[in-house]
Amino acid sequence: MKVAILGAMPEEIEPLLSALRERGVSVEAVEHANNKFYAAKLNGHDLVIAYSKIGKVNSALTATVMIEKFGARALIFTGVAGALKRGIKIGEILYATSLVQHDLDITAFGHPHGFVPGSKISVQTDARLNSIAQSVAEQLGITLKSGVIASGDQFVSGEERKSWIERMFDASAVEMEGASVAQVCDALGVPFCVLRAISDEAGHKAEFDFDEFMVKSAQTSANFVLKMIERL
Ligand code: ADE
Repeated sequence: MKVAILGAMPEEIEPLLSALRERGVSVEAVEHANNKFYAAKLNGHDLVIAYSKIGKVNSALTATVMIEKFGARALIFTGVAGALKRGIKIGEILYATSLVQHDLDITAFGHPHGFVPGSKISVQTDARLNSIAQSVAEQLGITLKSGVIASGDQFVSGEERKSWIERMFDASAVEMEGASVAQVCDALGVPFCVLRAISDEAGHKAEFDFDEFMVKSAQTSANFVLKMIERL
């Protein structure tokens, strides 16, 4: 089966590409749609790996290309997120049970916040992929958290917006790509999951924590996803 591994930023997929090259796996880059898609083979699975660049449109485009052009039949998102709920700490890994678009607002027409026209508010992730994530966490002896992930075209760095998103969607973490990828995968019938390691707490001065912890957290998530591939 061909599996897509998608990140948003170079730092989120470079640890994967280096790990593959270190194992002697050949990694070939193909250019398409103003982006690079890396093809490799691991554990009998063909992989297509890319970073989309930040934001919901970039990630929707990249997920669509991975599925429609490169033939991915499952998709794993790896990257970092800001924590919304108390008790979720920088460096911890969380998988999305479902994803919502916190900035999609047609409430003026009587729809609830986050309602996606022609669709629904939240998209659920794949139970099988999530259970593989749980077994990897057990194998590594680490705590794997889970919850709703809220996505929007906004870096959240303030208490007011942070607590609004948390309350409105009962969300555990916030980022800028997962829910658009979820919508694409849902529409195209491709099972997917979203793994995120926490880089900041999305509140006052989150940008400083992000700058300090993003690379390490991105690596934590990428290493975890590599272990998942070994169990697919
Ligand atoms: N990704 C990581 N931290 C984030 C934040 N605070 N807001 C949006 N996306 C993020």
